[in-house]
Amino acid sequence: MLHEITLTVNGEQRTVAVKSHHTLLKVLREQLGITSPKIGCENGECGACTVLMNGKAVNSCLVLAVEADGAVIETVENLSKEGELHPLQQAFVEHNAIQCGFCTPGMIMSAKGLLDRNPHPTVDEVKEALAGNLCRCTGYIRIVDAVMDVAKKGDA
Ligand code: FES
Ligand code: FES
Repeated sequence: MLHEITLTVNGEQRTVAVKSHHTLLKVLREQLGITSPKIGCENGECGACTVLMNGKAVNSCLVLAVEADGAVIETVENLSKEGELHPLQQAFVEHNAIQCGFCTPGMIMSAKGLLDRNPHPTVDEVKEALAGNLCRCTGYIRIVDAVMDVAKKGDA
């Protein structure tokens, strides 16, 4: 059975018919063409699928699409403006906080969720905000440094 839902995705209202058991992750990727949220564990363990839902970082693999009806969703596709990287994206580049990049969209959305509600976090608060995002290759020091750099500059 299909359910019609309407989401605001990256500032654009989208209406889509979804299956009741399909996740927000699946609908974003397969029906709305938004592929930055990655399919990792599909079990809430890795954070690769993180998006902002009504301003809060969520694992989109754990949200049913029907639960997201009426929600405001933001993904990393929305961050760069007029060809300029978002300060978080720029900081990840400058700090070499990206290797394979698989975790990066989720890391950046978790970091954005934090900085939107707390622009001047401590290192521990950054680590806590990113605790649900796993990285298999960069290690976490460069990633935390990148987020702290943005926080210190107040750029986000
Ligand atoms: S794919 Fe969603 S937490 Fe791993
Ligand atoms: S950069 Fe490869 S998993 Fe994080």
